[in-house]
Amino acid sequence: MSVGDWNDVRLPLGWRLEVLDEVSSTNDVLRDRGGEAEGLVVLSETQTAGRGRRGAAWVSEGGGSLTFSVLLRPRAAKALWARLSLAAGVAVAQALGRCGLEAEIKWPNDVLVGGKKLCGILVDAAGDSVIVGIGLNVGIREFPVELEGLATSMALEGSRTLDRSDVLGLVLASLAGWTDEIGEGFPAVVRQVRERCALSGKRVRLIAAGGIVEGVVMEVATSGELVLETPAGPRRFLQANEVRVI
Ligand code: BTN
Repeated sequence: MSVGDWNDVRLPLGWRLEVLDEVSSTNDVLRDRGGEAEGLVVLSETQTAGRGRRGAAWVSEGGGSLTFSVLLRPRAAKALWARLSLAAGVAVAQALGRCGLEAEIKWPNDVLVGGKKLCGILVDAAGDSVIVGIGLNVGIREFPVELEGLATSMALEGSRTLDRSDVLGLVLASLAGWTDEIGEGFPAVVRQVRERCALSGKRVRLIAAGGIVEGVVMEVATSGELVLETPAGPRRFLQANEVRVI
C-alpha cells in the first residue's frame, strides 16, 4: 500500500495518522515526539529495529502486518498507567471481534486467536506520555518454522476483512475508548479480561522482577494483577516479563 491508500482510515476525533516507509521502531519515533498532542499515530511498513517485550526483536511482514504506535496522554495518575497494557489488549480483542474473530487475552497483553498469538503490544512510558505499540498479523499465511504453532494471523483465522486500513480504523476506535478506562472505568476492562482470559486455571511459569514463579492462575484481580496459587500460597503480580503455560 502506498502512503495515499491510508487516507481513508477512520480516525477517532482529534487523532492524526502519519505513515512512514521505514523507521527503526514506531515506538521510538513517538518517543522522540513526546511533545505532540494525544492521538498521534505512526504507522510504518518496515521497522529496522522493531521491539517486542523483554528486549526481543519484533519482525513485521510488510504488507501482511499492521505495525503502528499511538501516543497517549492519560488523565489517570501515573501509578495507573501500567493498566494500559490490559486496556490495549481488550481494545484489540474487541476490534478483532468486529472482524468475526473470537480473541483471548493472555495476561498481561498478548492477544490470541485459536490459542496462537495474533497481536503483540508494547507499552512504553515516556515522560508525560505513554506509547502503545501494536503489531498485528493481518494477511500473513506462513510463519517462520520457529513460530509455527505459536503465531497466527487474521487471514489464517478467517477474518471477515483483511483490509488493513479497515482493521486499523477498528483498532484505533476501540483503543480510543478503552485506553480512557484505566481509572474509574477499570472494572469494565477487568471484566473483559476475565471473560477472554487465556490463562484461567492453567499452570504457568512466570518470570517476574523477583525471579521465576510457578503456580496455577486463579484470577485476574480487580486491580488487574494476575493471582497465582503457588506452593507458598496465593501471589499477585502486576507485571511479568514472561508467562508460559506449562
Ligand atoms: C510483544 O509481543 O513482545 C510486543 C510486540 C510489539 C510490537 C509492536 S510493532 C509496533 C511497535 N513498535 C515496536 O518496535 N514494537 C511495537
